[in-house]
Amino acid sequence: MNEIKIFSPATVANVSCGFDVLGFCLNSVGDEMVIRKTSEKGIKIIRIEGFDLPFEAEKNVAGVSALAMYNTLKPDCGFEIEIYKFIKPGSGIGSSAASAVGSVFGMNELLGKPYNRTELTEFSIKGEALASKCEHADNLAPAMFGGFTLVKSVCPLEILQIPTPHHLYATIIHPQIEIKTAESRAILPKEVPLQDAITQWANVGSLIHGLHTSNYELIKSSLHDVIVEPHRSQFIPNFDEVKNEALVAGALGCGISGSGPSIFALSEGFDTAKKVEAEMKKIFSNTDIAFETYVSKINTEGIKVLSSK
Ligand code: HSE
Repeated sequence: MNEIKIFSPATVANVSCGFDVLGFCLNSVGDEMVIRKTSEKGIKIIRIEGFDLPFEAEKNVAGVSALAMYNTLKPDCGFEIEIYKFIKPGSGIGSSAASAVGSVFGMNELLGKPYNRTELTEFSIKGEALASKCEHADNLAPAMFGGFTLVKSVCPLEILQIPTPHHLYATIIHPQIEIKTAESRAILPKEVPLQDAITQWANVGSLIHGLHTSNYELIKSSLHDVIVEPHRSQFIPNFDEVKNEALVAGALGCGISGSGPSIFALSEGFDTAKKVEAEMKKIFSNTDIAFETYVSKINTEGIKVLSSK
């Protein structure tokens, strides 16, 4: 096998209460990448379509994670990478994570899988850090493993796969404004009041229990964020209205996807998720902000091979 085409999915990080540790994987939006073995050594990005991103491997998220793996393994070949980006950078649905996991996953397949998915995620963290100026894996882990994941620890990296209730659907609205992850992290307080911390970790624990037991009522009552959302939501136009209408339409919960500007809702059943989408669309149709929406079943497979030769 000399060439592989892969699908690298978009993801939702934080999931309201789980800042920097929780995430889930989408299947209706993602990037495609082609990775090819070359006799010439090194990592070369030879094609980027969709968005304007750097070709130098050291300045490109996919290139940085590829180099981290390449320089560790030192294989006797090189790699060419083609990136077909469908996830807009700065959208809040894991654009950099999709690039970061895509290159190493593809190279690993071509080399006969010397690394497991946790090890691949460790290389990807280097790429993600180029974009967000911080080593975190809450978008990388669900892209790599699929479903819901909890990053128990970054150093050493420990990822837990959490079961996905069968009837859970995500609705996403992506207002076409850019919020840089590094900037939206910089505005967060360095300390939190103890009472807020207690509320938050009670919600994280309950959400995990709700996901394990497919308890939709518990999932609903756990999808709250008293620590990060109050600071970030002011930068997302119409956030409060979207959240309110999503809940009225029957969503279990609604919050900021990653560092925004995308907003996610989780619903029990496809029909409710579509109703939530209609309400979200209605709100942004009354503004001059362009937007896109997605309704997606939770992608339990994660990154995958589309073809190889
Ligand atoms: N947990 C991260 C954040 C996700 O909210 O800043 C975005 O990379």
